[in-house]
Amino acid sequence: MNILLVGSGGREHALAWKIAASPLVTRLVMAPGNPGMASLGELVAIKATDVAALVAQARAMAADLVVIGPESAVELGLADQLQAAGIPCFGPVAQAGQLETSKAFTKAFCARHGLPTAAYRVFDQAEPARAALDDFTPPYVIKADGLAAGKGVTVTSDRAEAEAAIDDILGGKFGGAGARVVLEEFLEGEIGSFFALCDGQSAMMFGGAQDHKRAFDGETGPNTGGMGTYAPAPVFTSELVDQVRTRLAEPAFAGIASEGAPYRGVLFVELMATADGPKLVEFNVRFGDPECQVLMLRRKSDLVPYLMGCATGTLDHMPPPEWSDEAAVCVVLAARGYPEAPETGSLIQGADQDFGEGVVVFHAGTRLDEAGGLRAAGGRVLNVCARAASFEAARARAYAAVAAIDWPEGFHRTDIGWRAMARGT
Ligand code: AMP
Ligand code: GLY
Repeated sequence: MNILLVGSGGREHALAWKIAASPLVTRLVMAPGNPGMASLGELVAIKATDVAALVAQARAMAADLVVIGPESAVELGLADQLQAAGIPCFGPVAQAGQLETSKAFTKAFCARHGLPTAAYRVFDQAEPARAALDDFTPPYVIKADGLAAGKGVTVTSDRAEAEAAIDDILGGKFGGAGARVVLEEFLEGEIGSFFALCDGQSAMMFGGAQDHKRAFDGETGPNTGGMGTYAPAPVFTSELVDQVRTRLAEPAFAGIASEGAPYRGVLFVELMATADGPKLVEFNVRFGDPECQVLMLRRKSDLVPYLMGCATGTLDHMPPPEWSDEAAVCVVLAARGYPEAPETGSLIQGADQDFGEGVVVFHAGTRLDEAGGLRAAGGRVLNVCARAASFEAARARAYAAVAAIDWPEGFHRTDIGWRAMARGT
C-alpha cells in the first residue's frame, strides 16, 4: 500500500513509526514531516494546510490511503477534496470537523443529541459576556470559540482575570478563532482523553490516556497543547469506558451522521469524570498530541488495517485492537517560553543516541541546521517516550532518557503521571 501521512508533529512521528512497521506498507510519504521521521519514509515539503498540493501528491503517488494528523487540514476540507477525488482518507470531512473547530457548534450539537456537557453561553460582545459572569459560579471557564492550539482556554476564580480573558479573546488575541467567546460551567472531577474510531457507521473504542495541559509542575502555569501523557490511565475503569461509549462517542457518531456528515477517522473525547458520569469537555477530530504517542507505544496489532477500515467503511470486519500489558509514559520537552513565546533555534544534542530498551524519542518542532545539528523549531520540540512492565518503571526510563539529552534551552515537567502515582499504580 502507498500511504500519505499529513502533519509534522510528535503525533505524526508516532503514527509514522507505527505505519512504517506494517508489512502492508510499500511506500510511506509524509507531508511535510520532520527530521525525526526522515528514516521512516519519504518527506515532501507540502504543508498540512496546502490542500490542493496534498490532493495532487496523493494522486501522483496513487495513494491507497491518506492519513490526516492535524485538525488544521480537517478544517480546510482535505477529506472533502480527497473524497471527491475518490481517495480513501482517515480523517473527517470539514462539516464533521466542526466538532473541534467550533466550540459553539459542538455545544449546540450536544444539546441537539443529548450529550452530557457543561452548561454554557456564547457571546460576540465583551460587555454582555462580562456581565454574564454573574450567572456562573467561580472558577470561571472562558474559551475562544475556534481553534487556538489548546491555548484559548482560561480557568480562573479571579473575576478581573476572567474579564481580561474575555477582552483578549474578543479583542483579537486568537484572530478569527476569537470572534465569539464561550463561558462554561466549571466541571468538578478528573479529566481524561478517550479515542474512538468510526468508519461512517460502525464505531470501535480505541483506548484512553491522560494528558497534563498546564505548562509547569503541580498543574500550574498556562494551558498548553499538552506536556506529557501516560497510558493506561487508571481513571478509565471499564465502567467509565462503557459510559463514554454509550453517552458520548456513539451518540456523537450517530448525531453527526444524521446531520449528513458521517464520521471517518478518530474522535478524541476529552471528558471530565464527574460524580454524575462522564461529561464532555471538548471533542477533537484527530488523535491527541501527545496522547497518540503513548497509544502507539502500547499498540500491538498493526495500525494500518484500522486506519483503512475507517476510511473505507469496513471497521466492523476488524477484531478489537490488541494492546501491550506494559505502561507507557511520554514527557514533552518544550522550548523555553512555550506556550506564549517559545525561543527557537537552540541546539539539541544527544537526541538520537541509543537510550536502551523501551525508549523511543519522537520529534515535534525540530529542524536540521546546515551542519546537520538538531535545532528547536517550535514550542513542543521532543517527546521522550518509554514503555515498561510497570508505570513506575516506564516513568523512570523516560526521565532517565530526558536527563541524557543535552538541551539547556528546553524545559519539561517532572511530575508526568502524578495522578497514577498518587493512586499507587
Ligand atoms: P480545552 O482546551 O477545552 O481542553 O481546555 C483546557 C483545559 O481546561 C482542560 O484540559 C481542563 O483542564 C480545563 N477545562 C476546560 N473546560 C473545563 C470545564 N468546563 N470545567 C473544568 N475544567 C475545564
Ligand atoms: N493533548 C491534547 C490535544 O491534543 O489536544
